[in-house]
Amino acid sequence: MKLGIVILAAGQGTRMKSSLPKVLHSLAGRPLLAHVVETALSLQPEKTVVVYGHGGEKVREAFDHPELFWVEQSEQLGTGHAVQQAMPMLQEMDRILVLYGDVPLIRRESLQSLIDNSGSAVGLMTVNLDDPSGYGRIQRDREGTVQCIVEHKDASEQQLTVCEINTGIMLVDAGRLHHWLQELSPKNAQGEYYLTDIIAMAVRDGIDIHVTQPGDIVEAEGVNDRLQLASLERVLQRWQAEALMHDGVTLMDPARFDLRGSLITGTDVTLDVNVIIEGQVELGNGVSVGANTVLRNVRVADNVRIRENCVIEEAVIGAESIIGPFSRIRPGTELIGGVHVGNFVEIKNSTIGLGSKINHLSYIGDTRMGGGVNIGAGTITCNYDGAYKHQTIIEDHAFIGSNAALVAPVCVGKKATIGAGSVIVKDAPADELTVSRSKQLTIKGWRRPKKET
Ligand code: UD1
Ligand code: CA
Repeated sequence: MKLGIVILAAGQGTRMKSSLPKVLHSLAGRPLLAHVVETALSLQPEKTVVVYGHGGEKVREAFDHPELFWVEQSEQLGTGHAVQQAMPMLQEMDRILVLYGDVPLIRRESLQSLIDNSGSAVGLMTVNLDDPSGYGRIQRDREGTVQCIVEHKDASEQQLTVCEINTGIMLVDAGRLHHWLQELSPKNAQGEYYLTDIIAMAVRDGIDIHVTQPGDIVEAEGVNDRLQLASLERVLQRWQAEALMHDGVTLMDPARFDLRGSLITGTDVTLDVNVIIEGQVELGNGVSVGANTVLRNVRVADNVRIRENCVIEEAVIGAESIIGPFSRIRPGTELIGGVHVGNFVEIKNSTIGLGSKINHLSYIGDTRMGGGVNIGAGTITCNYDGAYKHQTIIEDHAFIGSNAALVAPVCVGKKATIGAGSVIVKDAPADELTVSRSKQLTIKGWRRPKKET
């Protein structure tokens, strides 16, 4: 059985009030459409076609996915018309599954049961809603057999009382779908070619309709405005938080945790409130992350303690390190291990060796630092001359006094000591004390000026 999938994504999404096409709005850090595409591809279809329209080129560009095929629907004449645009690309398929680009939470398991249970019937996914307004209503006869779908705008008072609604997701034999689509006409309240009209045609032709319901009704919820987007964001965040807790992660408050990407964790990881994880993040065994910390594309080894209010991105943090509170670690940084980084310290594009300490108020940029180094409070690597960036080298067991300025390119040798307040513009030799500041003077009898009265 060759399965083809059509993802409808041509709608304008006017209620988002945005210049960005609706399906590119972000849910848990990825475009809405990316969620649907991922679920679709997990079913291992023969071919997947996305129907795009409004802002289409932007949508295409955002997805450089070799497995996707694209077709443009230049005028949005309805869901039936949209599927029709994709049909020429799906000629060799046996069955067609229709998904919506703006219904992002549909799960693989629900679609798999629709596929497994529909047999030669038309598979239709429905849900029962307390408030079905706006949706197409499933019409059944006295025996409960599905007869047709009536859109809200076309429904009678009687038909509007039905709470079972069409999710839009359906599975149809490709050959039959091809014929039924050609029979569609826009004679309805919206003047559109409704995909839903094929249900009545199937019944007329003696084809059964097999109804499947998803595991959770939110799987069928669509995004039409930013309120619905925010509400699905919360649902997805809760699912992700629950999955992490099942995996053994401690979340101090699962309602105050956001994962916008992927998180791989070891055992006994603890995340305090308002931690935000973005991109690809890996946390080793025994890692704890303090409140209000943001981690973006970071690899953290075992037993690292990241305290409150840190921002760490594109960095590698070695085992047993302690970071924060209030540390900022920027791209290209690697802490080898057992490193201490304290408050108001910024590190960029640097390697910090085993057990080195940068505990207070420092900027370390473009630096290769050995192990066992101690950086005094307020030390700055002056890496930028206004035109070029230069490197600072600090060798093992160097001790840099407080408030030193290391003007790059410069090297501080092994076990060298730099006096507090020094401005170091030339290499400082190993094992020696280097000081560069004016000598302290006391001017005897000097008096501060006074105002004359
Ligand atoms: C549709 C269904 C309705 C169902 C509801 C579920 C029809 C006629 N109605 O209604 O029974 O209860 O979805 O959410 O199918 N799209 C295109 N091209 C178009 C029109 C739509 O690609 O010309 C896409 C949209 O981007 C969207 C999906 O199809 O992803 C649904 O379109 P929408 O206009 O939201 O359909 P509804 O009127 O909500
Ligand atoms: Ca809709």
